[in-house]
Amino acid sequence: MCFIAGGFSARAQRTIAISTKNTSMILSVDKSGSLDFQAYGKRIERAGVFDAFVPNDDHHLNMRVPAYTTRGGDYIGAPALSVMHADGGMNTELRYVSHETVKGEGVEKTTIILHDTMQPLEVRLVYVAYQDEDVIESHSEIVNLGKKEIVLTDYFSSSVMLNASRYLLTRFWGSWAHEFQVERVQLSHGVTSIEDYCGVRTTHKSNPSFVLSLDASEFSETSGEVVAGALKWSGNYKIDFYRDETGRLQIRSGINPMSSEWHLSKGETFVTPDMVYTFSANGAGQASRNLHDWARRFGLYDAAAVAPTLLNSWEGAYFAFDTKTLTDMMDDAASIGLEMFVLDDGWFANGEFARNSDKSGLGDWQLNTSKIPEGISYLADYAHAKGLKFGIWIEPEMVNPKSGLYQKHPDWVVNEPGRDIIPLRNQYLLDLSNPAVQDFVFGVFDSVMQMGDIDYIKWDCNRHVLNMGSSFQKHQSHFYTAYTLGLYNVLARVREKYPKVMIQSCSSGGGRVDYGVLQYTNEVWTSDDTDAAVRTQMQYGFSLIYPSMVMGSHISAVPNHQTHLSTSIKYRTDIASSGRLGVELQPKQMTADEKKVVMRAVDGYKSFRDIIYQGDLYRLQSPYDGPDTANLYVSKDKKRAVLFVYHTEYVLKGFMPQIRLQGLQDGASYKVTELNCTKSVFWGNGKSFDSDYLQSFGMNLKLRDTYSSAVFLLEMDNQ
Ligand code: GLA
Repeated sequence: MCFIAGGFSARAQRTIAISTKNTSMILSVDKSGSLDFQAYGKRIERAGVFDAFVPNDDHHLNMRVPAYTTRGGDYIGAPALSVMHADGGMNTELRYVSHETVKGEGVEKTTIILHDTMQPLEVRLVYVAYQDEDVIESHSEIVNLGKKEIVLTDYFSSSVMLNASRYLLTRFWGSWAHEFQVERVQLSHGVTSIEDYCGVRTTHKSNPSFVLSLDASEFSETSGEVVAGALKWSGNYKIDFYRDETGRLQIRSGINPMSSEWHLSKGETFVTPDMVYTFSANGAGQASRNLHDWARRFGLYDAAAVAPTLLNSWEGAYFAFDTKTLTDMMDDAASIGLEMFVLDDGWFANGEFARNSDKSGLGDWQLNTSKIPEGISYLADYAHAKGLKFGIWIEPEMVNPKSGLYQKHPDWVVNEPGRDIIPLRNQYLLDLSNPAVQDFVFGVFDSVMQMGDIDYIKWDCNRHVLNMGSSFQKHQSHFYTAYTLGLYNVLARVREKYPKVMIQSCSSGGGRVDYGVLQYTNEVWTSDDTDAAVRTQMQYGFSLIYPSMVMGSHISAVPNHQTHLSTSIKYRTDIASSGRLGVELQPKQMTADEKKVVMRAVDGYKSFRDIIYQGDLYRLQSPYDGPDTANLYVSKDKKRAVLFVYHTEYVLKGFMPQIRLQGLQDGASYKVTELNCTKSVFWGNGKSFDSDYLQSFGMNLKLRDTYSSAVFLLEMDNQ
């Protein structure tokens, strides 16, 4: 379908409905050619009714809201686009030119072309509607049609308008080793923002995503209208929720404009990152499942690949290892039943710059021949001979001042001449906005891949931007945006050459967890805090937006190295088993009993991980609402399910959590088997129960101790 309207005058009103199976985003063109945002919510079958729409035209209010708000024209809310035109003009008024919808398999892409009424400026709004997943992605493309440079001061991806009586925002706050903490706020009038300015490592303090419950003062997993969103961008971001005087809510999302004016030369186009939205009429649970389904089918890199269970060397060995330490760890990993060994930090740089601590070596990506004289290929071959895959850690965007690279290329470091370069973790940031640095970073990946038969790369990034500045950029205000584009450029090159290697996005734990980087990487390192007690809440928050298959989740030693708390080995394995399971400790320090528990868990995990990776997640009980957390993953055909229950607080003697399940097949019965245990906490272990019993009454479990847990497999009878 393609519609061309011609000039800007005497046009007909028309409606553009961007629809999925159950949702619609309605835009309409008015007589002046202005493209307005009308609605986002439940699907409207006969959207043509908007062709005759008559707006309330009270000039005191912002009643008519453009689909892409600009500075200029008659809208006085938050502009998604602000342009300084070549003649110094500051106003932009966009009018409809044409639109086109192209249908693909399960996807409909609508591109709407708008032009300014006076200036040589084109804006293309692109909406991709994922039919079965009820997800709509949107971004803008800004084209300078003039002969001179223009400057974009705000260039957000999208603007959406909602209309409800109240808005309960669920957002994530946090810090290093404390990511994905959930916070709920009722939105007041004015602007509430989710944003970050760190440049890189942007998702510790908040995440570019949210869940918004409409007309609600309480969060519900199962009822009510919900809009959830996530931005595909790994740099500075900003999501503004602007509740205006009429009570409506404008959501403006995209690249954070802070110090980021973008100069657009003649003929150039700036493409903003995609904002991903979903709408659910059945609470937040459905909104998360929509995002997870979309991510697995369209959003993640190679979601069909099953990430192996692994032993990571970091917390078990830190910087102190030699070949024997590592091959011993591999022997132990294989004997536990794990499927991969990952060699973390500390394997590179030599002589005075040897990477024996975090003080030196970053940038010098040559094998440390004192620690591993036999070479990486020896380790990789050793792993493979043991039936393990082999992974290795890199942090290619960084340099220690104590390194050969820094001596050679001080000009590659992010800094402003004349100011001190502020170190973080003793390291500086390389300027990835510079194509020469991009080549170097790609070269690091490429050369490490040549060192042996490598299956997996953990790509780390352990600092953020301080005193921004680039010796490459003509306009310093390009730095932040160009850095992230540079990162994506490198990752795209990596993927072209290495489509199969698995990549984990790590940034001091969860500092780079977003759907931008996940277009190139298979999973993320959720947090440097591996304490299972803390992970209960963290993993709950994570699951609101991201699917469990990308959530790296490791069993570590006690007392925990970050929190110094101790939980049982069973609790630790049961928490780690609800993501991509790994182990991160020195196996030699495990007791025989601990080893047995972990082996049993790894074995059990292999039998149900397909349900965690590809199934539907029902968050039955939240760690924020009481002493029990319960998560149920149900396979798409509803024939199998796996239930995790975590009891995190002593309540009173004799208390038994009662867990009511969801998402099972009505009329079916399921055999319930407790896994990872010697003595079941469920009186009905091994018996079959009808789904109405499990869903209406629930399972009462003898879980009383603080940080006790249980895992159950449910299998439909008579399949
Ligand atoms: C970061 C990561 C850790 C580990 C260390 C190594 O903190 O998050 O998992 O790789 O770096 O220095």
